[in-house]
Parts: sequence; structure tokens; C-alpha cells
Amino acid sequence: MRRFRRLYYDIFSRIYDRFVALHSHDRLDSARGFLTALVPAEEGGVVLDLCTGTGTLLPYMQAKVGEQGRVVGVDFSAGMLRKAREKTSRLRNVSLVEAEAERLPFEDESFDAVTCSHAFYELKGLSRERALGEIVRVLKPNGAFLMMEHEIPLSPVTKALFYVRLLLAGSGHAFAFLKQELSLLGGYFASVEKVAAPGGRSKVVICRKRCA
Ligand SMILES: C[S@@+](CC[C@H](N)C(=O)[O-])C[C@H]1O[C@@H](n2cnc3c(N)ncnc32)[C@H](O)[C@@H]1O
Repeated sequence: MRRFRRLYYDIFSRIYDRFVALHSHDRLDSARGFLTALVPAEEGGVVLDLCTGTGTLLPYMQAKVGEQGRVVGVDFSAGMLRKAREKTSRLRNVSLVEAEAERLPFEDESFDAVTCSHAFYELKGLSRERALGEIVRVLKPNGAFLMMEHEIPLSPVTKALFYVRLLLAGSGHAFAFLKQELSLLGGYFASVEKVAAPGGRSKVVICRKRCA
């Protein structure tokens, strides 16, 4: 199943940025700026962007941590990473790693923050549990995981369309996750707080790691 998902993203990577631009206009751009402002990393900090896709978030994070910092983008799709490489080739302190969220090839407590934008809802069951365990493991004490996801629409019609869109993308299970994400994430972190992103279509869930 995971192999098909990876293949799906390898193919989708060819039009992914154009597809996102078409249906989000510049809404996602301001949501990404909003997410970046919430990331608790300073100049010189180290940030991991999980399921980075075509790496759109990476230049934002690089600007945040500056020349002395380090940003790592992880994704399991070689096609997506190829696009991310085109975007970040001039950024010296940004690196890309092909890996699964469930098995991160990093040392314990190596990141100030882990971000994941519009991707975590895709993980389910054991895969989600493993990824959360890995995020907690690689975060420094007091570090934070920031998950940006779609907000479930309030209007019944838009909500139904949103559900159909998830089903078509093979992520029907995500609907249940998005309804109970706070309690689920609360099992792994010391505190979990939800903040609405500008425009109201996305939200950021800020999860703080327990102190050592
Ligand atoms: C909807 S895209 C989001 C990409 C990017 N974060 C963004 O906001 O545009 C989901 C990404 O998650 C990646 N992905 C899904 N499951 C993964 C897993 N188990 N491990 C690593 N990457 C995964 C896919 O390859 C894809 O690039």
C-alpha cells in the first residue's frame, strides 16, 4: 500500500505545485507564513519539515533560522524531493532526506521544532503511532511539533465536498482523525493547542514535548 502511495506522489509531483496554486490562490502562502511565525526556533535553530513534499515550507524555515541554523526536509517520494531540490538548491543550510515518517534517520533530541503541513492526516493506525513516536524522539526537550491541517468546513455542503475530496485522494480515514486530533496528539505531548490560520481554512496544532 505504501509503495502505491509513494508512486502516487512521484507522479503527482509533476503538477503538485500548479494544482495547489490553482485551488488555494495565495491563501496557503499566508498560512505558511503564519505557521513559520509560530515555530519556536530562533536564529541558529534546527527545524525538520516532515512530509515536505515539493519543499514549499523550507525557504520560510530557512529565513527563520538564518545562516547559522539548519533545516531538513523529509519525504518518502523521490519525485517530490526532486521538485524540493529545485526550490532549495541555493540554500546552503537546507538538506533533503528521502525517508519514511515512521523511521526517521536522525539522532534523539536533535530538532528544536518539527513541522508537518497538510500531510499528517494521511497517516493512519500503526503508521501514525510510529510517526508520532519518532517526532517525540527527535525533538529536543521543550521542542514543539507544529501540524498544519485543513479545518473541517462548517457548512454541510462544503463539509460533504471536503469529505468526497478526501475519499478521492484515498484518505477517507483522515476525516475521523481531523475530528479527534487534539485528544489523539494529547497522548504524546505535554500540551496541545489549536490556533486558526488566517482565512479559517487551515489550522495549526502546536504540540509541546514533555520536559526531560
Ligand atoms: C499533500 S502532500 C503535502 C506536502 C507539503 N507538506 C505541502 O504542504 O505542500 C503530502 C506529502 O507527504 C508525503 N508522505 C506521505 N506519507 C509519508 C510517509 N509515511 N513518510 C514520508 N513522507 C510521506 C508525500 O510523499 C507527500 O509529499
